[in-house]
Amino acid sequence: MSNALPIIIGITGASGSVLAKKTIDTLLESSTPTIVCASSAARIVWQEEMDESFGAAIERWSDSNLFQYHPSQQINAPIASGSFPTRGMAIVPCSMATLAAIAHGMADNLIRRSADVCIKERRPLLLMPRETPLSAIHLENMAKLANLGVTIMPPDPPFYFKLSSVDQIVEYFAYRISVALGVSETLPDHLQYRGPEDI
Ligand SMILES: Cc1cc2nc3c(=O)[nH]c(=O)nc-3n(C[C@H](O)[C@H](O)[C@H](O)COP(=O)(O)O)c2cc1C
Repeated sequence: MSNALPIIIGITGASGSVLAKKTIDTLLESSTPTIVCASSAARIVWQEEMDESFGAAIERWSDSNLFQYHPSQQINAPIASGSFPTRGMAIVPCSMATLAAIAHGMADNLIRRSADVCIKERRPLLLMPRETPLSAIHLENMAKLANLGVTIMPPDPPFYFKLSSVDQIVEYFAYRISVALGVSETLPDHLQYRGPEDI
């Protein structure tokens, strides 16, 4: 796959804004064109959880000419159309509301529409859902999407790595997303399981 095609990152109003921040940082550090779309709920949760404001993060990422941003109300952005080529999309973190909308074909904002486009165009789509506990509704929506080929990657830590900080767990998931979308071939050495000596 060409490195020149962008990856879309959707940010929704589930807890875990730091996962979005690290994923975007990692993609830009690897010179991957990155189109970010955030919902208004994502911005509210970001404000609760993060030290760097969302506006400051957008400004920092905008220093790179590989970065573009659209609010989720901007339904006429290029990524709303299947004719605009991308390498795929990750929604990090993914709320149960957005997951339900995607599972039911409700393309009523730019994040949901872009995910709908990925499914119809058979492009990679990864959702990082965050909720606990999960109801049967959540699980049925996830199963429906998994059966369509969508990758459902909850941010469940690999406890066998004995990662000692939230930062390390977040780094692990940013790389897992990169690998799942084909941006990186493998996880960095320190995040690869090497068998019993690591546990
Ligand atoms: C502080 C905060 C934390 C939230 N955490 C979650 C969560 O972890 N998972 C979830 O599905 N919704 C969570 N929500 C609720 C969503 O933000 C809400 O359902 C919203 O409508 C999602 O909209 P969006 O999917 O368009 O971003 C949270 C809301 C707030 C204010």
